Amino acid sequence: MKFRAARPSEVSGIDVIVVPLFDDKVLPKGLPRATRAIVERMADEVGSARLYTVHTHFGEKAGRVVLVGAGKRKEYEPVRARGFASAAVKSLWCSNARTVAFFAESEGIGIERAAQATVEGVHFAMWRPETHRSRPEERRLPKLDTVTLLIDGDVRRAITRGEVAGRAVNTARRLANEPANKMTPTMFAAEARELARAAGIECEVLDRKKCEALGMHSFLSVAQGSHQPPQLVVMRYKGRGGKGYDLAFVGKGITFDSGGISLKPALDMHQMKADMTGAASVVAAIAAVGELRPRINVIAIAPCTENLPGGGATKPGDVFTSMSGKTVEVINTDAEGRLVLIDGITFAQREGAKRVIDVATLTGAIAVALGPVFTGLFGRPDEFVEVVRHTGKEAGDRLWAMPLTDEYRDAVRSDIADITNSAGRDGGAIKAAAFLDAAVESGTEWAHLDIAGTDWSDKDRSESPKGPQGPAVRTLIALAERFAV
Ligand code: BES
Ligand code: MN
Ligand code: ZN
Repeated sequence: MKFRAARPSEVSGIDVIVVPLFDDKVLPKGLPRATRAIVERMADEVGSARLYTVHTHFGEKAGRVVLVGAGKRKEYEPVRARGFASAAVKSLWCSNARTVAFFAESEGIGIERAAQATVEGVHFAMWRPETHRSRPEERRLPKLDTVTLLIDGDVRRAITRGEVAGRAVNTARRLANEPANKMTPTMFAAEARELARAAGIECEVLDRKKCEALGMHSFLSVAQGSHQPPQLVVMRYKGRGGKGYDLAFVGKGITFDSGGISLKPALDMHQMKADMTGAASVVAAIAAVGELRPRINVIAIAPCTENLPGGGATKPGDVFTSMSGKTVEVINTDAEGRLVLIDGITFAQREGAKRVIDVATLTGAIAVALGPVFTGLFGRPDEFVEVVRHTGKEAGDRLWAMPLTDEYRDAVRSDIADITNSAGRDGGAIKAAAFLDAAVESGTEWAHLDIAGTDWSDKDRSESPKGPQGPAVRTLIALAERFAV
């Protein structure tokens, strides 16, 4: 798929023109004269319908105009631009259209944000979850090969960012969507290596022995009950040279979470194939950073393992020493995400990371608190959390800041060890964050994104089909650009 920008007067030979229709029914300037009259009449009839197709002629070529409801002009935002582009592309599913031109409205948001959002929206609509259907026609995507943005100005960098971010989100979706038997820790590590190779960045995978030597007994305790070997994926991007890392991404990589000995109920357990969405998000994001090449050093760490109740599995009450030296009492083997994350967070700091962002499908409690719309945001200091929130919002993720104070830190103290991995159901998402906090050294800026409510959607959305959503990827990419020197 190729993207380019052009003035309306410069385009010809287009199969479909997509036009946003705002509440004021004012059509964009530059619509081909031959079609303007028809579209104007149609616009009157569209009313509140979200999508309307008009067959017409663009000069010499027969084609279509797709009118897409864009809501109130005053409320226009990048998220609308994205949804608008996705909706239009979805309407082309069964057509032979290969060339599409978008009137990417930039009023109020600027041409760069309009261009990037439109390109992202096109990508989001070009991903489908049916990767294991045996009939090829059931795995088909639209045949689009050229997308023209009808924007007057230089938006080449914005287009590149939209393409890189759009592809990264789709990569995270693809990895999360795979069933656990086709996305074991070893297979995930192979995917990470391939992403790193394509982006021209470093990738190293630490096996059980190397993790043992580093003292990652908290991470390894989760792997004990499985026949699949654990893998710690480390990816490094050095865009400014020099020592240390300005930013670390740590992603929870549980390729299947059965709960372990604290076994989950059967209902919806299959959903736990996506418990490596945090890992998928961080490897996709750092590969995207490698493609965009900002002047910053970034490290991504994904501790990957299954959580199964095999004969060697951790028993409730077992105690382990984490890489930080802090001891952990495992009260509930289903609270395994925090066990793998603390060792990832410690590893990041030993590598010289000054800022750490972790991404994890950590708690059912965050889904109870915020539902499927907002990702829970925790961390310290508050100023850093605010930067992450703001950057994430601009980038297209929805983050909501949650409290994290000493009362919650006290709640995760263990009777016999330093910290306990389960401290009661109330405030569950905050207590999970308080557990991670124990691995964050003073002087490290840290944010934790609990995506357990937002990683998966049970219904189709304007930006995405139902299934994996690829949350936090755009936030991570935007943070790397923001902290670049
Ligand atoms: N992976 C789950 C959290 C989860 C639940 C993600 C639903 C997506 C959808 C996590 O490992 C877990 O099991 N958390 C427990 C923690 C509890 C035992 C303290 C939970 O939320 O119930
Ligand atoms: Mn669990
Ligand atoms: Zn889990």
